[in-house]
Amino acid sequence: MGVVEEVGPEAADHLSVGDRVVVPFNISCGHCWMCDRGLFAQCETTQVRDQGKGASLFGYTALYGSVPGGQAEYLRVPQAQFGPIVVPEGTPDERFLFLSDILPTAWQAVRYADVPPGGTVAVLGLGPVGQLAVRIAAHLGAGRIIGVDRVPERLALAARYGAEPVDLDDVDDVAATLIDLVDGRGPDATIDAVGMEAHGGRLVAAAQKAMGLLPDALAQKVTDKFAVDRLDALHAALKGVRRGGTASISGVYGGELDALPMMEIFDRGIQLRMGQAHVRRWTDEILPLLLDQADPLGTLDLTTHHLPLAEAASGYEMFRDKHDGCVKVVLNP
Ligand SMILES: NC(=O)c1ccc[n+]([C@@H]2O[C@H](COP(=O)([O-])OP(=O)(O)OC[C@H]3O[C@@H](n4cnc5c(N)ncnc54)[C@H](O)[C@@H]3O)[C@@H](O)[C@H]2O)c1
Repeated sequence: MGVVEEVGPEAADHLSVGDRVVVPFNISCGHCWMCDRGLFAQCETTQVRDQGKGASLFGYTALYGSVPGGQAEYLRVPQAQFGPIVVPEGTPDERFLFLSDILPTAWQAVRYADVPPGGTVAVLGLGPVGQLAVRIAAHLGAGRIIGVDRVPERLALAARYGAEPVDLDDVDDVAATLIDLVDGRGPDATIDAVGMEAHGGRLVAAAQKAMGLLPDALAQKVTDKFAVDRLDALHAALKGVRRGGTASISGVYGGELDALPMMEIFDRGIQLRMGQAHVRRWTDEILPLLLDQADPLGTLDLTTHHLPLAEAASGYEMFRDKHDGCVKVVLNP
């Protein structure tokens, strides 16, 4: 998020110097075959074809285009005729900041979950994405929300927004717990807001660690071809949802050889939806809620730490290790 300093000729109809803008994390042109269908994370203009991947992303490795990222004092914005969202002045940054990534991600997760009105959804993982998914699910009409994590302050924060907390460390089998909690059937939908960072089985953890010890170039080849993810949260999402329900996955996975319980998924008739957030597809739906002075999604009630850019590295460490009650760090250049 920032202020426009310069505008290229092709973006001049969309932006002016001095505009306050939020820039989506994925780079989309807004007019290709995929963008015409709202599949902005698959934009064919910015797809990273040499890696066989979807749209370019800011601040990622070669896998998604090596585009320098936004945690900087200045940012060059490709496809600026479409991406940046102009937002009004006069409110704290956090009211709009999360529009660049975690808010549309959580919105997509809930929309993909397709919870029937008054139905039940379980959100696995209560980091920033899971927290917002809880709030959005409540806003979009879910009747009952269950939130699963192991970090006490994250469970408590989700509970403040109406989630029934389930502490991972209190249960042996998350899927069985979800089924028990919801009429012996399970919730209508599950949202995996954990991804490959999930604390997983020891074997996978050992394999991941071993890859960490390989020289970079070799590790890259190994991870591209043979990577396995830690799948605890995903398995819980697939096995804990009710028969005929939907598992919506916003947590990022990158394994090529992940084993999935296909018989269970098939027999139980589970619908699966997933992927990078198509940010601009959802921003028009979200923006009115951010302009509402009542702040219905509690955007000002998520950030736990503000740090200068120079302390970004320690901010990432604190976030990873969940120290000091850290839920969300905002970097202020
Ligand atoms: N799809 C997208 O476009 C998109 C965009 C942004 C983030 N993401 C992904 O969403 C995921 C969540 O992001 P975040 O910023 O909230 O991260 P986070 O790491 O803060 O949150 C993950 C939470 O899951 C909890 N957890 C770990 N294992 C669990 C398990 N087995 N069951 C339940 N909870 C478990 C952790 O304690 C943590 O609180 C990440 O994978 C991130 O990469 C995806």
